[in-house]
Amino acid sequence: MPTLTAPPPPAALARRLPPLPPALDLPAVSFFGRSLAEYTQFFALDVAALRSRDVLDVAAGPSSFVAEACRRGVAAVAVDPLYGDTVAALAARVQGDYDHMFAQMRAKRRLFKVGLRLPAFFPSIDAAEADRRAAAQRFLADYEAQRLYGRYVGAVLPRLPFFDGTFDLVLCAHLLFTYAQRFDFDWHLAACRELVRVSAGEVRLHPVCGVDGKPYAALARLRRELREAGIASELVRVNYEFFVGSDSMLVLKKAVS
Ligand SMILES: C[S@@+](CC[C@H](N)C(=O)[O-])C[C@H]1O[C@@H](n2cnc3c(N)ncnc32)[C@H](O)[C@@H]1O
Repeated sequence: MPTLTAPPPPAALARRLPPLPPALDLPAVSFFGRSLAEYTQFFALDVAALRSRDVLDVAAGPSSFVAEACRRGVAAVAVDPLYGDTVAALAARVQGDYDHMFAQMRAKRRLFKVGLRLPAFFPSIDAAEADRRAAAQRFLADYEAQRLYGRYVGAVLPRLPFFDGTFDLVLCAHLLFTYAQRFDFDWHLAACRELVRVSAGEVRLHPVCGVDGKPYAALARLRRELREAGIASELVRVNYEFFVGSDSMLVLKKAVS
């Protein structure tokens, strides 16, 4: 009679699957940003198809997405509470927040996927640092040149200073769910509704996990309450994962009645 091997006890399982290190320790929402190439991947964008389209990047920080998209003919606008500050003040913020963020990443490497093939986006933390610092420099140069012409708008979710349906596409990365503990459920719901209000097409939110790599705990309730408010949502897998668990986006649209 064949002998059945008993399943390993929980302690042995725990030894085989080391737990993730604790969440990144970020004292506040970081003024930290990414490039158009990274946005393209985690939002599954076709940038050529966005030519002449109105695109809004909310909580854009020092990301270079809007600067680079405008250079490619996209009518892109960025929103962040810190816009309105001087270039020197934002450059100082970048310096401090990037130093802290990369020290955290190196201390908690297991929270990040690195490798030479997608979905890993960077071959190493060093490569991520070089790329993101370069993106911040592109943002600072564009902010200096464009801030008087309305490309960079100071505003704070859940209120945006735009008419209903102004933008073909609205993006919001690394705020809502990344910093889920800093904002309560009602804020999340109000922020989603406001993003949808200013959109004529769709809203894309990324990632759908927090700085501990775990999915947003109230996601089912959020989607249900959005549905009750006439907003359809879809969880879409993307070919990207740098922070563990950051392999999806949430797409919101006004539901067709
Ligand atoms: C981590 S950065 C993300 C930058 C960019 N979206 C990206 O993914 O590279 C988060 C940004 O959210 C901004 N922020 C904080 N609270 C906000 C709020 N209530 N409404 C809009 N933006 C906010 C911060 O100033 C910061 O620049």
